[in-house]
Amino acid sequence: MSDLRDRVILITGATKGIGLGLARHLGGLGARVLITGRRDERVAAASGELDGLGVEHLAVVADVSDREAMLAVVAEAVERWGRIDGLVANAQSFRPVTPLADVSAADMDLLFDTGPKGTLWSMQAVVPHMTSAGWGRIVTMGTSMGLTGAAGYGPYAASNEAIRSLTRTAANEWGRDGITVNCVLPASAAHRLDPESSPERKAAFAAMYENHPIGRDGDPELDIAPLVAFLLSDGSRYVTGQTIGADGGGIMRA
Ligand SMILES: NC(=O)c1ccc[n+]([C@@H]2O[C@H](COP(=O)([O-])OP(=O)(O)OC[C@H]3O[C@@H](n4cnc5c(N)ncnc54)[C@H](OP(=O)(O)O)[C@@H]3O)[C@@H](O)[C@H]2O)c1
Repeated sequence: MSDLRDRVILITGATKGIGLGLARHLGGLGARVLITGRRDERVAAASGELDGLGVEHLAVVADVSDREAMLAVVAEAVERWGRIDGLVANAQSFRPVTPLADVSAADMDLLFDTGPKGTLWSMQAVVPHMTSAGWGRIVTMGTSMGLTGAAGYGPYAASNEAIRSLTRTAANEWGRDGITVNCVLPASAAHRLDPESSPERKAAFAAMYENHPIGRDGDPELDIAPLVAFLLSDGSRYVTGQTIGADGGGIMRA
């Protein structure tokens, strides 16, 4: 069902966390992956890791909020492989947890520039190639915090709900071109384990798993990537415009 052999898939923000787990898993299924991130050293490290796993890939430094940069990234993949079959719009920058009363214009701009706008620029870069091929798969990333309205996460939650809205519009506009567009709501250990995450963010993730149906956090490669792989495959061809959680049912207790 999730045969991705020789598919060319762009994963934005794939130098760590969920994106890197996706690159490992999709590469293991035989996909050729194009990964991006903003920081040279992280892009180089992720590329080295994929080399070690024998994953055919391109690793490019590009900020997802830069529309021209995303067009150039996709052009590079098309020049190398002649096609682009899938997009996982995964990259998003984050700001420290902040009450709504203190949210600044810069906080809102960062979350919307790298969230819905970055997702749209990535879609615009891949869709002409998918339309010509008559086949394409787009997976966006949202958050259950958008649905629950988690306190302290205003810009993040709102920007992710905008991503879900764009997902539905894209599904309506491109369905007849053979392109499906779906949104995944992941939950993973990434931020509890990431030394760069703030104590508040780590605590919010830890609290989420205290009263949780499956009782543990998700592994990017083993728990989240298989759903994404299905949504990138031919088997998901009648699934579009949907939001699907890969959170162990955590949203039911959020
Ligand atoms: N972790 C969770 O439990 C969780 C829950 C719900 C939703 N999500 C969503 O899942 C996605 C991945 O989350 P994550 O936890 O894996 O994030 P993460 O660990 O913070 O990793 C983010 C990745 O994106 C890159 N990135 C950040 N801003 C970028 C930009 N402007 N342009 C290009 N690359 C950028 C980062 O590399 P550089 O810093 O080098 O750019 C990194 O590779 C996000 O969309 C997030 O909203 C995650």
